[in-house]
Amino acid sequence: MRKFGYAVVDLLADHFANIRDQRVGARFDPAKLIPLFDVDPPENGRDPNEILMQLKRDVFPNNLHVDHPRFFAFVPGPNNFVSTMGDALAAGFNIFNGTWLGGPAAAAVELGVVQWLCRICGLPTTAGGLFVSGGSMANLTGLVAARHTLLQDRIDAATVYFSDQTHSSVERALHVIGFSPEQMRKVPSDEEFRLSIQGLRKAIADDRAKGLRPFCVVANAGTTNTGAVDPLNELADLAAKEKLWLHIDGAFGAAVVLSERGRALLQGLERADSISLDPHKWLFQSFECGCVLVRDAALLKSAFQIKPDYLRDVHRSDEEFNPCDYGVQLTRSFRALKVWLSLETFGLAAFREAITRGFELAEIAERELRARKGWEIFSPAQMATVCFRFGKSDELQTRLVDAMIKDGFALLTSTELRGAVALRLCTINPRTTEEDIFETIERLDKFARR
Ligand SMILES: Cc1ncc(COP(=O)(O)O)c(C=O)c1O
Repeated sequence: MRKFGYAVVDLLADHFANIRDQRVGARFDPAKLIPLFDVDPPENGRDPNEILMQLKRDVFPNNLHVDHPRFFAFVPGPNNFVSTMGDALAAGFNIFNGTWLGGPAAAAVELGVVQWLCRICGLPTTAGGLFVSGGSMANLTGLVAARHTLLQDRIDAATVYFSDQTHSSVERALHVIGFSPEQMRKVPSDEEFRLSIQGLRKAIADDRAKGLRPFCVVANAGTTNTGAVDPLNELADLAAKEKLWLHIDGAFGAAVVLSERGRALLQGLERADSISLDPHKWLFQSFECGCVLVRDAALLKSAFQIKPDYLRDVHRSDEEFNPCDYGVQLTRSFRALKVWLSLETFGLAAFREAITRGFELAEIAERELRARKGWEIFSPAQMATVCFRFGKSDELQTRLVDAMIKDGFALLTSTELRGAVALRLCTINPRTTEEDIFETIERLDKFARR
């Protein structure tokens, strides 16, 4: 055990120490990778140290390194080593975090960390929540609470509102919990990619006039595309007036409320009925680590709790916190441990500083792009995200992404904004240096001109 364990830790420590000297990744050929593992399982085992070498050769290098300081695509995953060790501990002790009886100390840690996050978001003491796999599950969980609370789960003619910039996981969650596309309203966003209050008001009024039942609005605290923050306070006012549930998808952005700049941007976050916040994004945790926070934790319990016969020993005391009563999973890993361990190890000040650094890096990138000829800023740096393009051709932007992937020095991806293809840098990795940004833009510029 020790020999294998030390070898694993050495491999991880080397990875953390040397990642910046590696290629960010490549576009791997399915025809080459899939056959490597399309073989029969072995009848007899072999030395795990030898297998580790195989993994080192065939698996670990053949993925995009989302933790690389020059990985600027999608939402990067700049996890920290302490968080990784937290996962190792949770897995090694195989702690069952589904019930109080099964994992009481784990449940206590989860309660504690969830309370930290509730406080950071400004939610009242009635609030609570749950660690889940990520933003997709957090959105689903929040929407189930909304459906249960306001509709008593009877969804006929009920309608939900969100901007056209909202993450697809919201649509998917609604689909999974029974809503048809006709019950979802994608409200056009304004010039700054924020949900338009006017558009929302009109959509709600039109639906009420048709006899439909508006019940929920989903707002963004940092869209994936541009980092846009919907007008949270105005949305909270409107939701209160119209008696709608306000779910805020802060999977990407809510964690920035820890920083001074983030707090100013996210005013109104504290008025949400539910919030998604992904520690595996901007709180630097290893996957999978999302979190759903609900203003009144009792509503989450009321939406999810079922008491089957075989859990009769679990449900004896109301004092005991059973995580399985608050979400979809019964058997759950101890996700809160890595968050607790890293917050305890580094302290909130380090997280604040790391978040602020992300904001600054995107601004540095924007300034550098503006200083060069031919580059146009589509969406200025906000929430560590900047969107831009070179020239007018959509195809050129796609070719630039391909050129960067082939080059392997840095990685970025494209998106579509108002029907045009734009390149996008997401700079939440605090280990990124200014040199990384300059050199990435230098290469982009060189490829674009070529
Ligand atoms: C705003 C937003 N919501 C939800 C999600 C989905 O989160 P996950 O991939 O963790 O399920 C993402 C992921 O990028 C996101 O950016």
